[in-house]
Amino acid sequence: MTAIFEETAIKSMTMRNRLIRSATWEGMCDQDGRPTEKLINWYRDLALGGIGLIVTGYAYVRPDGKHNTGQMGIHTHDFADDYKQMTHAVHVAGGKIAVQLVHGGGQSDAKIAGRRPFAPSAVKVDQFPEMPEELTKDEIDKIVAAFGKAAFRAKMWGFDAVQLHGAHGFLINQFLSPLTNRRTDAYGGSIENRSRFMLEVYRKVRDTVGVDYPVLIKLNAADFVEGGLEIDEAIYAAEKLAEAGIDAIEVSSGTPASGKNSPVRVKITNPKKEAYNLELARRIKKAVNCPVVVVGGFRSYKVVEKALRNYGMDYIAMSRPLIREPGLANRWLQGNRNPARCISCNSCFMGGLEEGGIYCVTEKKVKEKAAGQ
Ligand SMILES: Cc1cc2nc3c(=O)[nH]c(=O)nc-3n(C[C@H](O)[C@H](O)[C@H](O)COP(=O)(O)O)c2cc1C
Ligand code: SF4
Repeated sequence: MTAIFEETAIKSMTMRNRLIRSATWEGMCDQDGRPTEKLINWYRDLALGGIGLIVTGYAYVRPDGKHNTGQMGIHTHDFADDYKQMTHAVHVAGGKIAVQLVHGGGQSDAKIAGRRPFAPSAVKVDQFPEMPEELTKDEIDKIVAAFGKAAFRAKMWGFDAVQLHGAHGFLINQFLSPLTNRRTDAYGGSIENRSRFMLEVYRKVRDTVGVDYPVLIKLNAADFVEGGLEIDEAIYAAEKLAEAGIDAIEVSSGTPASGKNSPVRVKITNPKKEAYNLELARRIKKAVNCPVVVVGGFRSYKVVEKALRNYGMDYIAMSRPLIREPGLANRWLQGNRNPARCISCNSCFMGGLEEGGIYCVTEKKVKEKAAGQ
C-alpha cells in the first residue's frame, strides 16, 4: 500500500517520502536573478523540515523570459558558485532539490524582461499584460537551446533533477493552448503541432542531461479560460511526454486569467475544497505509465493519504502550507497529524513583491498578537 513516509526513487534520485515542495517563487534573488543567502537558507530550512523533494521557484532560461521581481535566473554561468552553495546546503540537510525551468513568453512583463514579450502568436489575451511579438522559427530554436543549456548548468551545479514549467500559462503552456497559439506552421493547429515545442524542449533537455538524470514537468491539465487547453488535449500531451521518457508529471491547472480557478485558489477552508486538481490528475494517471504528482490545495493528512491510496497518485506537492510551516513533513512524521495551518489567503505574495521575499503574513500576525504587540 502506498504510504506517505516511504522511500522512493525516480532514477538516481531517492526521496525520503512522497511529499514534494511544489515550485514557489520566493522573490529572494537580486535584480540579475542571482540567488541570495536568504534564499539558500530558505531551501536549507525546507530540507531540514523533512520534505522529500524541493522544487525551486521558477528560474528563467533567458532574461527575456523573466516574469517576476526577485525571480531566479539560470541563464548564465556566472551564478555557478551560488547555485552550488544552494544544492550543497540542501544535501547537507538531508534533502533533494530540483530546479524549475521557465520561459514566461507572453506573460513576461516588458519592464521586468527588458523587451517586448515573445509568444507563440501576437494575440492580446487576458493572461498577457500586453500584445506580444510572434516567435520566429529561429527564436523558437534559440529558446529550445536555452532550456537545454539551463538543464546542463543545473546538472553541473548539483541539482538532483530539473522540472520544465509547462503550466500556469507560461510559454510551454502557451504553445499547448489553442487560445494563445494561433500559428499556422508546424507549431500550431492540431494538438500534435501544439505539443511540438514542449516535446522539442523535453528532447533537448534529455539529450543534454542524459538518460539517467530525472527530467520532470509541471503540466496544466486544464487552463480554465475560454478557448484554452482542456483535459482531453492535456492527456494527449501527457501521453506524448510519457512515451518520450519524461520521469514524472506534476498536474496543475489554471492561468492568471482563470479567476476562482487560478492555480493558487483561495478559501480552502475544509477538506472538500482541498485537492482541487485531483480528478484531473486521476485522468492523466490513467493515461500514462510514469509517476504522477498532484498539486493544489492539499492541507489534511487524510486527504493526502487518500490521494495516494485511492487515486493512485505517486506524490503530493504543496506550496503555501510550507511557507507557513517549512517543517510540516516532520510534524506529520512525528505524529502530529493536524492539518497544515495555511489558511489559503495568498497574502504571502506581497512580501515577495515588496519586502525582498515571501513570508507567511498570517503567521507573523499570530506571533505579534501572542507577543502583545
Ligand atoms: C508565492 C507563490 C509562488 C509560486 N510560484 C510558483 C512557481 O514559481 N512555479 C510554479 O509552478 N508554481 C508556483 N506557484 C504555485 C504553486 O506551486 C502551487 O501550484 C499552488 O500554490 C497550489 O498549491 P498549494 O495549494 O499547495 O499552495 C506559486 C505559489 C505561491 C503561493
Ligand atoms: S500568507 Fe500564510 S496563511 Fe496565507 S496563503 Fe500564504 S502561507 Fe498560507
